[in-house]
Amino acid sequence: MRILVTGGTGFIGSHTVVELLENGYDVSIVDNLCNSSAVVLDRIKQITAKTANFHKIDLLDKVALDGIFESERFDCVIHFAGLKAVGESVKEPWKYYNNNLVGTLNLIDSMSRHGVKNLIFSSSATVYGSPKVVPITEEHPKGNCTNPYGQTKSMIEQILTDIHKADGEWNIVLLRYFNPIGAHPSGLIGEEPNGTPNNLMPFITQVAIGKLPELGIFGSDYDTKDGTGVRDYIHVVDLAKAHVKAMKKIFDNAGLEIYNLGTGKGYSVLEVVHSFEEATGIKIPYSFKPRREGDIAACYASADKAKKDLGWVAEYGIKEMCLHSWNFQKLNPNGYGE
Ligand code: NAD
Ligand code: UD1
Repeated sequence: MRILVTGGTGFIGSHTVVELLENGYDVSIVDNLCNSSAVVLDRIKQITAKTANFHKIDLLDKVALDGIFESERFDCVIHFAGLKAVGESVKEPWKYYNNNLVGTLNLIDSMSRHGVKNLIFSSSATVYGSPKVVPITEEHPKGNCTNPYGQTKSMIEQILTDIHKADGEWNIVLLRYFNPIGAHPSGLIGEEPNGTPNNLMPFITQVAIGKLPELGIFGSDYDTKDGTGVRDYIHVVDLAKAHVKAMKKIFDNAGLEIYNLGTGKGYSVLEVVHSFEEATGIKIPYSFKPRREGDIAACYASADKAKKDLGWVAEYGIKEMCLHSWNFQKLNPNGYGE
């Protein structure tokens, strides 16, 4: 079976390509490399001893995208490609709506015209907005997304839901990721943030390696166990494995399904810092800063539905997440070096 992975050289996509290849699937990747490096392709080969077909194509280039569907036959598409920087999306909303929405619409059009109607989409816990209750189940109503990035996820979910409603031949799984961190245990692939990281774990690893002087902790007066924000961190390899399970569900004629992908456990910022220090033996200097705009106090998943329907549970704990994030940073101090 051949799977098309859009955004397959990115952080989550590359780990998923590894899992797909290791599970015997043939893989084709489409990525324009706007937030990733072609070096990833060699790294994937080093890990798996297998090669994925690579097409350096922008999803906005409808003709080129369609060309791939003319030349290859896909059984399923896993759609990661998108822009994901929350702050940038506030400053440049058009870019986000254009890239994420038009890219997805072009993809659906090509899929539809070539009779490929199996799709897994990378959504986010951001669609829940500020949760009314935690843990968050899939039935939790969608909330107010405070930024254009989150809006694109919510809108694409709606578009895909309507497409499935109109044509029951589509099998679509919407995966709502919580907070992916970690890296492949080999240290060969991982997360390479662009510029100063916005997210917690890449910031911590850059402090650990000496690129940044200290971590600023955004808010110490939240209504949480120690006043700092609580999130559901999930190891990217566990997340990648969930895609393989979700694909099996698709081949069983899933219809339209939504799954949270998290561990079900919430860790505060201070707990993450201390876990990192324990796992690596490296001290992380920090100071408290005001709350970051748009942040919520606590967000963690009920992952029961994925366990029941997909037989998937996250296996790695916070210690391995920290250790593997650090391992990637240590082995690749300048990222993929391009
Ligand atoms: P990433 O930036 O590492 O990967 C996305 C990939 O898509 C990149 O390789 C980029 O070059 C490519 N891309 C972007 N626009 C494209 C276009 N128009 N045409 C072709 N390629 C394009 O991001 P990631 O962390 O791997 O995230 C993957 C998906 O998961 C994204 O849709 C993201 O919004 C979603 N998601 C990520 C997180 C997270 O914390 N990382 C959380 C929730 C959801
Ligand atoms: C952020 C995005 C969210 C996106 C998710 C995964 C915002 C407002 N939200 O979520 O839309 O889906 O990333 O990509 O950007 N923290 C610090 N100091 C830092 C960085 C983070 O204290 O330097 C804290 C945050 O306040 C939060 C926690 O660490 O409590 C996790 O932050 P982060 O990794 O940015 O993820 P989210 O805020 O959950």
